[in-house]
Amino acid sequence: MAEADTSAFDALGGEPAVRALVDRFYDLMDLEPAFAGLRALHPTTLDGSRDKLFWFLCGWLGGPDLYLQRFGHPRLRARHLPYAIGIAERDQWMACMRQAMSERGVDGALAERLGAAFFNTADWMRNRGS
Ligand code: HEM
Repeated sequence: MAEADTSAFDALGGEPAVRALVDRFYDLMDLEPAFAGLRALHPTTLDGSRDKLFWFLCGWLGGPDLYLQRFGHPRLRARHLPYAIGIAERDQWMACMRQAMSERGVDGALAERLGAAFFNTADWMRNRGS
């Protein structure tokens, strides 16, 4: 199969790999002082956040539309409006996700491709200037 025919979802390793990536992402958010500002925006328990990001990413990466099936269109930017997201929050989210990808052993070229796509989405979520 040509590389272009392989979704990022399949290249990562399907649902178990996406779930493991999301779990590492939120574990790091909980553990690392560098992500304390990002963590503070989230609810006390991250169980719901873990499930939602997992369902969302499956579809966003080209796999099954698990989020859409449950909740309809994500309206991601609107759903982030209650949280003040500027450059610092965007950059913490990206650093947390890049570290999670690295610790999960995501292949370097794939991590670069995903990093660029995550950045575009994270930057689009900004709702204040700084
Ligand atoms: C730019 C920095 C970002 C910040 C500070 C941020 C913060 C948050 C917060 C505080 C929540 C609510 C958590 C909850 O209700 O459990 C949330 C929900 C969510 N975020 Fe983000 N987020 C960011 C970027 C992203 C990106 C880049 C994606 C996708 C690639 C994403 C996907 C989601 C999803 C799917 C939800 C659940 C929406 C729902 O159904 O309520 N977020 N985010």
